[in-house]
Amino acid sequence: MSTVGELFLEHKAEKYHTTTLYAQVYDWLFSGRRHITKVLEIGVKGGGSIRSWEAYFPHATIYGVDCDHLEHLETDRIKILTGRQEDQEFLKAQVIPHGPFDIIIDDGGHHSHQQQTSLLALWPHVTVGGIYAIEDIFYAFDAYYCPPGDKSTIVFLQEQVNRMICRPDALLLQGLHLVQFSYGLAILHK
Ligand SMILES: C[S@@+](CC[C@H](N)C(=O)[O-])C[C@H]1O[C@@H](n2cnc3c(N)ncnc32)[C@H](O)[C@@H]1O
Repeated sequence: MSTVGELFLEHKAEKYHTTTLYAQVYDWLFSGRRHITKVLEIGVKGGGSIRSWEAYFPHATIYGVDCDHLEHLETDRIKILTGRQEDQEFLKAQVIPHGPFDIIIDDGGHHSHQQQTSLLALWPHVTVGGIYAIEDIFYAFDAYYCPPGDKSTIVFLQEQVNRMICRPDALLLQGLHLVQFSYGLAILHK
């Protein structure tokens, strides 16, 4: 069985310099979950990562959300949902009905407000025991992705971690019970 790293290389996943680091974390997290049935990734581009997930999770349907029309990447187990990740009506009408999802990965627009909007809308549709990963959270320090006045995804997640530890009754993300950070990555467990 191939590792995530081998599949990212084979399918040319576009995770840039982070590919190896992210792949290692994903192998730790996902190797015991090869039986899962639904994966959602926001951000499809050339299809490298969704093809990797299709191979890694042999029983799963892989849903790819992108603002560009990438329907040519569809297969029996890859479904493309076209729309913007911060568009709540799109998420409600076209994404959420396919859930609940065992794993959600956000590799979309990377703007902090987009990451938080998608997380808040989709978190209730993660299975219990499931994982929500947000990639490239270092963009929180880039004024293009997080202009002055916007709350950065890192600050948002720190607030959720504080509540998870001290005030679980006040959590915006109900059922959050473990959060992990790595280089560029936030991993939330339900
Ligand atoms: C970094 S690429 C995804 C790479 C892919 N996950 C991989 O590893 O091979 C980001 C993708 O997100 C899409 N995107 C950008 N802004 C978006 C938004 N607001 N909503 C949905 N998709 C968006 C872009 O069209 C692009 O295809």
